[in-house]
Amino acid sequence: MRRHLITLAASLGAIAALGACSEKASEQADANQAEAVQGKAAQIAAFDTSTSIKELMDSTVDPAADAIWDSVATVSDKNGVDRRQPRTEEDWKGLRRHAITLIEAMNLVMMKGRHAAPADTPRPPGELSSAQIDGLLSSDHETFVAFAQNMQNTTRLALSAIDKRDPAALFEAGSAIDSACESCHVTFWYPDGGDPRLQHLKKK
Ligand code: HEC
Repeated sequence: MRRHLITLAASLGAIAALGACSEKASEQADANQAEAVQGKAAQIAAFDTSTSIKELMDSTVDPAADAIWDSVATVSDKNGVDRRQPRTEEDWKGLRRHAITLIEAMNLVMMKGRHAAPADTPRPPGELSSAQIDGLLSSDHETFVAFAQNMQNTTRLALSAIDKRDPAALFEAGSAIDSACESCHVTFWYPDGGDPRLQHLKKK
C-alpha cells in the first residue's frame, strides 16, 4: 500500500512536472507567436504603401503591358503592311525588362495597406467609388491576391516566349495577359452589376 502511495506520489509528481513543462512550452509558443506577429508588423511598417493601386497601374503595370502588346502586331497604313515583331537582341532584351517589371509590379499591387486611388479621384459612372474598392481590398484581399498571382503566372508565359525568341508564343501570351488584367478589373474596378459576388455593394 505504502509502495503504491509512493508510486502514486511519484507519478503525480511526474504529472505535475509534465504540466509545468507543457505550461512552459505553451508560454514559449505564445512568446514565439507574439514575436512573429511583431516581426510581421515591423516588416509591414518598413514598406511605404502610400502609392495607390491606380498610380501603380499607370506608372508600372500599364506601360510594361503596352510594350509587350505592341511588340507583335500587324499594322497597316498608307505605306503598306508592317508586320511588327522583335527582331534584334536589343528588342528582346527590352521586352524581357518589361515582363519582369510586370511580374514584380504585381508584388507591389498585392501588398496590404494600399489605397485604391488618391482621395480626389473622379469616378465616371460604372466605376466603383474609391471607398468601395478600398472596402473590397480589405474584405476580399485573398481574391485580389489571386488575380495578381494569375497575372504573374500569365506574364511568365510571355517571359518564356521571350527567352525562346518566339514571336507567335509572345502574341498568344499577350492575349492571356489582356484577360488577366480584365478579370481583376471587372471584379475590383468596374464590376458587372450582375456579378453575384458584388451584390453586397449595392446595399451601401
Ligand atoms: C489584381 C488586380 C489587377 C490586375 C491584375 C490589373 N489591375 Fe489594373 N487596376 C486595378 C484596380 C483595382 C484599378 C482601379 C484603381 C482605382 O481607380 O481606384 C486598376 C486601374 C487600372 C488603370 C487605370 C489607371 C489610371 O491612371 O486611371 C489602368 C490603365 C490599368 N489598371 C491597367 C492594367 C493593365 C494593363 C493590367 C494588366 C497588364 C492590369 N491593370 C492588371 C487592379 C488590377
